Amino acid sequence: MKIAMVGSGYVGLVSGACLADFGHDVTCIDKDPAKIERLQAGIMPIYEPGLAELVAGNVKGGRLSFTTSLAEGIDGAQAIFIAVGTPSRRGDGHADLSFVYAVAREVAEHLKGPAVIVTKSTVPVGTGDEVERILHDAGLPFPVSVVSNPEFLREGAAIGDFKRPDRIVVGAEDEFGRQVMQDVYRPLFLNQAPLLFTSRRSSELIKYAANAFLATKITFINEIADLCEKVGGNVQDVARGIGLDNRIGSKFLHAGPGYGGSCFPKDTLALLKTAEDYDSPLRIVEAVAKVNDSRKRAMGRKVIEAMGGAELARGKTVALLGLTFKPNTDDMRDAPAIAIAQTLQDAGVAVVAYDPEGMEMAAPLMPGVRMVGNAYEAVTGADAVALVTEWDAFRALDLDRVKALVKEPVLVDLRNVYRPDEVRAKGFAYTSIGRA
Ligand code: UDX
Repeated sequence: MKIAMVGSGYVGLVSGACLADFGHDVTCIDKDPAKIERLQAGIMPIYEPGLAELVAGNVKGGRLSFTTSLAEGIDGAQAIFIAVGTPSRRGDGHADLSFVYAVAREVAEHLKGPAVIVTKSTVPVGTGDEVERILHDAGLPFPVSVVSNPEFLREGAAIGDFKRPDRIVVGAEDEFGRQVMQDVYRPLFLNQAPLLFTSRRSSELIKYAANAFLATKITFINEIADLCEKVGGNVQDVARGIGLDNRIGSKFLHAGPGYGGSCFPKDTLALLKTAEDYDSPLRIVEAVAKVNDSRKRAMGRKVIEAMGGAELARGKTVALLGLTFKPNTDDMRDAPAIAIAQTLQDAGVAVVAYDPEGMEMAAPLMPGVRMVGNAYEAVTGADAVALVTEWDAFRALDLDRVKALVKEPVLVDLRNVYRPDEVRAKGFAYTSIGRA
């Protein structure tokens, strides 16, 4: 089957490479010539484990190619995916759909035969209707179907998530759309991934509802963690104790510095805007977004407290280990590290940092933070060390060596990577999340 993927960002590139790996003939399209040139040369625009190899293998196999020309890329394609960005619109938080609609107009202009147009970008309810209107207005003399097919992959685990999803959601309004989508995902049925057909509007909503629910779960356990600290409990035990109830489930109950990334902050905001537009308030989601937002700076204050309070912390240095919003990505979007560094700097604390992949993206977002080449260099001379992102490289630090390098052995573990008794036995003053 010939497939076109318009937009070669995180979702487009991973989806395109995986669909090619299933045996489809995939063309990835992007209007950024530098990006396409680099992809043609085998250079990935993002850091994602296994992606470079997957792309190289499928390019070599003749199933995957890249172009800047949409007209050329969609020629003969039965399925045309729209996987362009839908960032928060500046000022009002609505999802900015200008890229999606621009692609729809261009597709309408160049399409030569029947095709299914698939919105893979995360788009508010009703976007599919508008895409359909754009195509309809072009008066095309052949059938075109617009379907919604949200993507649930996580950064850092993107390929595994795409190839072994919990479910595939397809929102289609006609048989043509459903049939083509069955053919697209046929290889996945072997992995027994359930294919859920819904209406297009339900499908659009599923993506936002899923992300908002996961964000709620994280925020819930984060607040329980705060309570654990006050009452003398252990949030990991509490999470395990509630997570073993199948109705709750054990995933997404890791307390931490608050969620970040390209999806949860943006998608909760966009969902709230939709709710506002339809006068159907989502008060729980409102609270989640607010609580998570304030948590990031609160984590900066937690570090200051561990240093003995604002007065003692002023003029001192904190080493941040990990900057990206989670490990195995170079993505810095809405990463808690940004707010943490700001809070520290506002309190007159100097910040030095190391991240295995994120420093290039982080540098412009964190002015005044000194980036160094590895964890041990970062902690050298520090008055406190804060573990912000749980990269594997920080899970087994040589704590004796760290202790010898720091000025003060203060460790603030915002991801609960270490065992309190072990770290304290090494002579550290140790603070973590929700473990009194
Ligand atoms: C998320 C969704 O998981 C995915 O389905 C959707 O397609 C896009 O958004 P992603 O943003 O890549 O994926 O990362 P995810 O692994 O979900 O983590 C999001 C944030 O939540 C990170 O900042 C992470 O550190 C945090 N998190 C996650 C927690 O703090 N605790 C948890 O238990 C899980």
